[in-house]
Amino acid sequence: MNDKYLPLFQSYDLNNGVTIKNRLVVAPLTIYDSGSNGELTASARRFWQDRFNGFGLFIMPFTNVDPSGIGFESPNAFSDNQLPTLREYVKLAHQQGAKIIMQLGHAGYKARPEMTRGFKVLAPDGTMRRRAQTMNEGQIQKMITAFANAARLGIKAGMDGVEIQGSNGWLVEQFFSPAANHREDHWGGSFQKRLNFLLAIIDAIDQVRQRYQRSDFILGYRFSPERPREGFTMRESLALIDALVQKPLQYLHVSLLNFYSRPRRGADRQQTRLQIFHQRIAGKLPLIGVGSLYTGDQILRAYQTGWSEFVALGRAVMLNPDLVQLIKTGHDEAIETTFNWQHVDRYRYTPAMLQAKREKLDLAYRTPHRVPKRR
Ligand SMILES: Cc1cc2nc3c(=O)[nH]c(=O)nc-3n(C[C@H](O)[C@H](O)[C@H](O)COP(=O)(O)O)c2cc1C
Repeated sequence: MNDKYLPLFQSYDLNNGVTIKNRLVVAPLTIYDSGSNGELTASARRFWQDRFNGFGLFIMPFTNVDPSGIGFESPNAFSDNQLPTLREYVKLAHQQGAKIIMQLGHAGYKARPEMTRGFKVLAPDGTMRRRAQTMNEGQIQKMITAFANAARLGIKAGMDGVEIQGSNGWLVEQFFSPAANHREDHWGGSFQKRLNFLLAIIDAIDQVRQRYQRSDFILGYRFSPERPREGFTMRESLALIDALVQKPLQYLHVSLLNFYSRPRRGADRQQTRLQIFHQRIAGKLPLIGVGSLYTGDQILRAYQTGWSEFVALGRAVMLNPDLVQLIKTGHDEAIETTFNWQHVDRYRYTPAMLQAKREKLDLAYRTPHRVPKRR
């Protein structure tokens, strides 16, 4: 291995005593391909078969904690009959030497009624979307239990941990967002009350860990930096961080499209968002940074800013199934940074991903409803 990359391959000890072997993380990537019960399909297996080699951590794609929250084809974690699939994901990651974290999500009002198995589409505030129902107290309690139940399934399946999907406008962020949450009860209104749903989920998952005496089971939280249209800026996200660092978490994970992006509102625009978040966390938890990093040199330079303890790679992993191998062996020039139709055999994309490319649709997760169904 080229010695200059050694810093990326240092291990990291989480606050619960678990060691992650290096700083490289496979970012959660939805590949729009799963069976009717969330199972791995032949094309999904083909896509994932070797992509974790060399990575310390693999964060699974958005995994549905409840049928009412399904918005696209993705894995499920709401029933014991899904354990064989979850175990298969675990095996895939562990065989390649990576730890596996399941990302727990619910689409809230962005769920697709034709995918929710007859369950109503739910939201903190149903007036936001036609066909969505405002969640009542019982439904909120049930939803918190659904997140905890998914963590229980994660433990039973042999996962190394779970990450709460609190970013990108899904249910957890819908509760946090003043634009999506107009409630006036315990679960909405003031900033403090808009935190209650996500804090309750963290506590419920922590209780599951305690019940199973699994303090080594990792719990992470992913958040958006700011979403002015959703009514929150960097200022609110910094206050969210202040609340999160007091909880029994092992890491924070910010969702960025560019590692070096700067704030739009609510913070010093001279600094990058990541730098500002990292300063605010002040070493209380490690942070995963992400966004438009491809080559070993780009990843190393980003890591050496010191703004994040881990670096996640999304599109680089999609285009380069052997990314870490290429970095280790000094083949930076062979790392692909843009999609090339000549190389589709190498990418092994799923049919829905290829179809989206053909139709020039944005594959990014922010617009999954625009990705066509598998043919
Ligand atoms: C096809 C695709 C699927 C994604 N799926 C998810 C997902 O399931 N959960 C999530 O939190 N982020 C998801 N993301 C966002 C990525 O995790 C990552 O934050 C983003 O792609 C920026 O990193 P990159 O520049 O290294 O790709 C997805 C992105 C893409 C392109």
